[in-house]
Order: sequence, then structure tokens, then C-alpha cells
Amino acid sequence: MFYNMDCVEGSKMYLSDNSIDLIITDPPYGIEGHTLHKHYNRKEEHVLDGYIEIPREEYPMFSEKWIKEAERVLRPGGSIYIFSGYTNLIHILSAVQKTNLKEVNHIIWKYNFGVYTKNKYISSHYHILYYVKPGAKPTFNTNCRFSDAEKDESGRSLNYRDREDVWIINREYKPGQVKNKNELPKELLMKIIQYSSNEGDLICDFFLGSFSTARVAIGLNRRACGFEKSKVAFDYGMSIISKLTPGYLLSEIRIPKENTYFNQGKSISEEEKKKIIRTYVHLRRRFSKEKAIELLSAEFGRGPWSIRRIISEVNSCENFNLFLPNTS
Ligand SMILES: C[S@@+](CC[C@H](N)C(=O)[O-])C[C@H]1O[C@@H](n2cnc3c(N)ncnc32)[C@H](O)[C@@H]1O
Repeated sequence: MFYNMDCVEGSKMYLSDNSIDLIITDPPYGIEGHTLHKHYNRKEEHVLDGYIEIPREEYPMFSEKWIKEAERVLRPGGSIYIFSGYTNLIHILSAVQKTNLKEVNHIIWKYNFGVYTKNKYISSHYHILYYVKPGAKPTFNTNCRFSDAEKDESGRSLNYRDREDVWIINREYKPGQVKNKNELPKELLMKIIQYSSNEGDLICDFFLGSFSTARVAIGLNRRACGFEKSKVAFDYGMSIISKLTPGYLLSEIRIPKENTYFNQGKSISEEEKKKIIRTYVHLRRRFSKEKAIELLSAEFGRGPWSIRRIISEVNSCENFNLFLPNTS
């Protein structure tokens, strides 16, 4: 379901109301983007020709039209991720504000190969606006990449780090290969698709470019559709898409280690609380507070935060004895 045509026209013609689970899209920039490769110092023959740009003065109206369509086709609870540079961010924001879509996150994507400038700071980030359509619970797979229990070498939560709203993900370096001027990296698209969709969901990209969203969606066993106005880009994208096997990226997915908080979410009895406190008091004689919490977390199957809450009652040494078993 890919169409070589204007996305607004195409969407009206082919997509019914509430039919799409997730939209990921990177609209043209409205900054004379068809000359962008000159700034990036890329070799002309490796840059895919046929990028269709939107004149600056048309950008506000253009954004309103396609974002209104995106809202219509998204199902209640469906998510939309819109990529934008800084220059026209104001127009994208103002267009989304005219819809009923609800803001969830404003993500900053920090990449390498920024546009080189000499007498000012180098622009090396992008904005990703994440909104949902109200009316149903949105898909957000909190533990699709890291369980709550996984930590890095310094003991910090990997899940927390992965879900922070600043993402440092490099653009792909493909020496000698044909590439769209602004091809999105696979790693970035995998992350969005894993968190905001499930296998079998329908993912749409209104501005396919080199079909990067569709390629990753198919790779992760989702269905894909979209629009690209340029015939050159469309034909190139279709030639790649037609060779893909659905699910070809599934083997690259990191499987989160089992969540060890087996009692998380279950109510806690007074008896269990007392047991946790008593064990804590014993452990503190040999271990630091952090280590004691980690051991308790593993033993009682509860997250460090709930353990911390329970032991806050005995954080002064005098109280320790109250909780020790009577040995006399
Ligand atoms: C920023 S690029 C998308 C890049 C893409 N995300 C990728 O990774 O390759 C924007 C694309 O939108 C296309 N385009 C411009 N106006 C369009 C329209 N009205 N409808 C559909 N596609 C359009 C451009 O030709 C260009 O390929």
C-alpha cells in the first residue's frame, strides 16, 4: 500500500477514518532542502535525487492540511511522531494545536554529521513531536527493550535511560551507497516502532523518502503504507521494499532480561513489611544502604522504590533495635 502521490490527496483517496495505528513521518523542511547535500558535503552521485521541497511561504498551510489528515486516519489511541528541524517547528506546532491530538513528549534527537558552520554553534539535533489521538489507551510498551530491573555498570536503570527524552543516535554512514538526503537511522525507527506498536499493526509514513520507516516496520513484522510525491524516490524505495522479507529485523531486537520484581504491583501485608525491615536491619550491619536495598529487592521481588519507602521508617540507628528479633 504505497502510493506515488501527494500525501493529502492520497490519504483522502485511500485511507479510511481511524485506520492507522502509528504514523511516523519526516515532512520536507521548507528550507530549500533540495540543495541540502551541498551543506553536508556529500558526493552528488550518492545522493538520491528527486526530493520535493515545499516553498517556505506555503509551509504553514501545507502543515495544517497534512496534519489534519493524519489526525483523521489515526485510530483512537493511535500515536504520531513528527520530525522537524527548528526553522519550521513553529508551523508544525501551530498546526498540531489546531487538532485534538494530545501532546505526550517532545523528544530531542542528537545526531552526528551536523550542518557545519564556522562562526556559530553547529546544529546537530532534531525535534520529534510525539502525540496521541484521544479516545482509547495508547500503545506504549514500557518494557519492550529493558526490564525495570536492568542496570548499567554504575547501577543506574537501563529502562529509565532508554526512556529519557533526549536520544543520541548516529546517522548511518553508508560510504559509496545511494542514500536519501535525510534518511532516518534504523536504530531510531526501531525504537519508536517497538515502544508504540505491536506486531501486525499498520504504520503509515506520509513522506516516505527512501521508505526508511516502511523498511523498518516490515522488518519488525508490522504492516506499512505511505506516500511519496517524487517518482525517482518512489521507484527507488519500491525497488528495495519489494525484496524485503517481513520480520527480517526481529533477530536484531534485544530481549529484555526477565523482570525480577515478581511481587511488583501486589499489595503488601504488615507481616511482610516487618520482615523486610528486620532483614534490612541485619543487612545494614554488613552492607551499604544501596547494597542492602538491592538484596532486599531481589529477595522480596519488589522494586527498589517500594523497599526504600518501607525502610524509611528505620533510617535512624536507634530504631534498629526495635526491629531485631528478641534473642534474650
Ligand atoms: C525529509 S524527506 C523524508 C525522508 C525519509 N524519512 C527517509 O528516511 O528517507 C521528505 C520527503 O517527502 C517528499 N514529499 C514532499 N512533498 C510531498 C507531498 N506533498 N506528499 C508526499 N511526499 C512529499 C519529498 O520528496 C521527500 O522525499
